[in-house]
Amino acid sequence: MYPEKAGEVAPWGAWNDGGDGLLNGKQVTAVILAAGLGKRMRSRLIKVLHPLMGRPMVAHVLDAVRKAGVERIVAVVGYQEERVRELLGPGVEYVRQEEQLGTGHALRQTAPLLAHDPGHVLALYGDTPLLTAGEIERLLAEHLGSGTAATVLTAVMDDPTGYGRVIRNAHGGFEAIVEEADAGEGELAVGEVNTGIYCFRAADLFPALARLGRDNAQGEYYLTDVPQLLKADGKRVAVVAAADSRAVLGVNDRWQLAAVSEHMRLGYLEELALAGVTVVAPALTFVDRSVTVGIDTVLLPMTVLETGTSVGDGCVIGPSTTIRGSQVGAECKVAYSVVEECVLGQGVVVGPFAHLRPGCEIGDRVKVGNFAEIKNSQLGPGSKVPHHSYIGDASLGSEVNIGAGTVTVNYDGHKKHRTEIADRAFVGCNSNLIAPVTVGPRAYIAAGSTINRNVPAGALAIARSRQDNREGWADRWRPHG
Ligand code: UD1
Ligand code: CA
Repeated sequence: MYPEKAGEVAPWGAWNDGGDGLLNGKQVTAVILAAGLGKRMRSRLIKVLHPLMGRPMVAHVLDAVRKAGVERIVAVVGYQEERVRELLGPGVEYVRQEEQLGTGHALRQTAPLLAHDPGHVLALYGDTPLLTAGEIERLLAEHLGSGTAATVLTAVMDDPTGYGRVIRNAHGGFEAIVEEADAGEGELAVGEVNTGIYCFRAADLFPALARLGRDNAQGEYYLTDVPQLLKADGKRVAVVAAADSRAVLGVNDRWQLAAVSEHMRLGYLEELALAGVTVVAPALTFVDRSVTVGIDTVLLPMTVLETGTSVGDGCVIGPSTTIRGSQVGAECKVAYSVVEECVLGQGVVVGPFAHLRPGCEIGDRVKVGNFAEIKNSQLGPGSKVPHHSYIGDASLGSEVNIGAGTVTVNYDGHKKHRTEIADRAFVGCNSNLIAPVTVGPRAYIAAGSTINRNVPAGALAIARSRQDNREGWADRWRPHG
């Protein structure tokens, strides 16, 4: 049950269910601290709700904890707690921290829930969004395997500025964590930092939290003082180094948010690339983590794929294309276009310069061309809207051809109305279809028509004034050339 080789993943969930007496379902409880405002962000939104790759920071932390198999999760909330609760959902328990008096004070708020827990507390901060399940598993394996009172996950940073420094004793063992604001010159030179991710035996944690003072540079109850207190009591405190120091980068300001977003963005592009997606210009390609992309799809520069999107196999997306909340089938081409909340079948060609607004279902092999705007419409297989048209609140059958400059006149100033165009109808250029109106199967509409009555199947509708050629008119108007 216990991971035998270094690096092997411990199945905590299964392990918790193992019923071997050592651990049961409640042995490890994760506590995510998310009550602070995050002053250094200079934002109206609390720090942990700032998104990276389309998902708030604290949600990434929750994902990692869940992926590591920890089932019981408590969030400490304060500022904008309603929003945090809404985001993290009912699968998490919540504890309120009325006043933000420091990380130690925040964790202490969970005492009513956890002080008598026979197990262990995995404490994390909501502002380390790159955290992976692997790092959590390393920490848990070390902590649970060695029977220490506290285990601290550390990392060696090229630039440790802003982090608490981990001070080791002459034997390399844990000595103390010193916050930057309290550190002397020698301590500031230490490159090993506290990641803010710890595991504590609950029975040792809560008495120590109750003893914390706030006699320090920031006047706060520091969680970082707990390991040292335990050590002074003669308890064992262990240190585990993170396998990848990037995974534990903390975010305190927006420039750090940018740096961390960049790591996550490139990391996901690498994953996609290794799974068979061609990413032509990684620096210029933005794909949210929840987006899936099929094999042999090519992402050209300035492609932005946002949350809720899936792209099938063998597509070419971009350049300069944004797709959000949409399903794109296999073998599609979308260039210089914006697609929002639409479903595209297979082999659809969109753009250049098209805008598919929410609510479109675009059938297989449809072509939507230059400067077309389509909204809340269904287009059957093989239909074409190649140039300069507006199609809104319309249903098109299969193989309908829409001539350049066609407009569905869907809005009468009060209400929207629908246009129905049946299979293989042909709408001539520069036509207005005043809804509600239907065009029957295989009907033709003459170019330049303004249609306000239904057109029967197979008919030709001409709704424009007849042309009148006046012979010799120009010579009479301008007789001298
Ligand atoms: C903290 C650690 C530091 C570590 C760094 C890692 C302390 C005292 N310092 O510093 O050693 O290197 O994280 O990133 O713990 N929070 C609350 N209530 C509070 C205060 C904070 O819930 O009263 C939450 C915040 O919402 C945040 C997290 O705790 O998500 C960390 O707080 P922050 O102020 O960012 O701590 P750091 O100064 O980064
Ligand atoms: Ca922080």
